[in-house]
Amino acid sequence: MAPVADDVLDGGNEKSIFRCLDAARYVVAAAVSVLIMAVIVYAITVVLRPADLYIGVLQGSVSVSVSGGDNLRRPPFNASIGRGNLTFSFTVRAINPSGRVSIYYTDVEARIKSNMSSASSTLLRLQLPDVSLGPQSSIDSNILINTFALVKKQVYYFNMLANGSSIDDAMIAVEGTRTVEVYSGRNVTDHVRVFYFCSPIVVGGDKDDDSEAAVDVQCTDQNQPASS
Ligand SMILES: *[C@@H]1O[C@H](CO)[C@@H](O)[C@H](O)[C@H]1NC(C)=O
Ligand SMILES: *[C@@H]1O[C@H](CO)[C@@H](O)[C@H](O)[C@H]1NC(C)=O
Ligand SMILES: *[C@@H]1O[C@H](CO)[C@@H](O)[C@H](O)[C@H]1NC(C)=O
Ligand SMILES: *[C@@H]1O[C@H](CO)[C@@H](O)[C@H](O)[C@H]1NC(C)=O
Ligand SMILES: *[C@@H]1O[C@H](CO)[C@@H](O)[C@H](O)[C@H]1NC(C)=O
Repeated sequence: MAPVADDVLDGGNEKSIFRCLDAARYVVAAAVSVLIMAVIVYAITVVLRPADLYIGVLQGSVSVSVSGGDNLRRPPFNASIGRGNLTFSFTVRAINPSGRVSIYYTDVEARIKSNMSSASSTLLRLQLPDVSLGPQSSIDSNILINTFALVKKQVYYFNMLANGSSIDDAMIAVEGTRTVEVYSGRNVTDHVRVFYFCSPIVVGGDKDDDSEAAVDVQCTDQNQPASS
């Protein structure tokens, strides 16, 4: 019989010990929750840092040629709406420097603008290919577009460029949907439209003039406050 009484007594002691353990567990759980929150907040600020996606225009230039090559017997170039094709080509570089996330930049539209006239008019509007960037990867998209003038404003620029003149103070406005994917395979941000401005861009001109090493132009993220 005595052992039973002992057991009851010990049971009582164990209960109070368990109560202490329970309290300790709550404290640990609370601390872990706080830690998890801190990690999540840190992860979100790091993962969503929009400056992570680099967009740039190689050599800061768009080269222009009269479509159809250098046929000396072709009639003098005289653009009008729907007539007089030019070929524009340039390379857009996208870099994802992050070692953790993938970045998608989709539904991308670019507008090449000249600010020679007071109302900076669009010289060319075009669609850029989607890019899908794994961690620490880079993609160069070579853009080649052959087109005639679609609106009256473009005709002036087309004739000027066909003549070998260049527009030295142009800019390219890029707009696309940026999506960030953490490596667990979840997209953290959806359908954020992000604007980049690339300036200054040289459009056209004699290729032999480019002997001075042209530098790549980094486009600035317009959703970010200007930083150093
Ligand atoms: C270019 O074509 C327009 C009509 O489309 C004509 O009026 C103009 O004189 C032409 N210019 C040259 C330099 O041939
Ligand atoms: C064109 O843009 C440059 C730089 O943004 C500026 O310095 C220049 O004054 C602009 N020119 C005109 C005609 O707006
Ligand atoms: C000229 O440009 C138009 C519009 O982009 C295109 O449909 C057409 O095929 C081009 N013509 C030539 C001869 O390349
Ligand atoms: C093209 O260049 C020629 C001579 O180099 C010039 O006479 C003509 O006016 C220029 N045309 C345009 C549209 O700039
Ligand atoms: C994330 O978004 C991109 C671009 O819209 C899409 O291609 C990809 O499949 C998405 N990933 C997930 C895991 O939903």
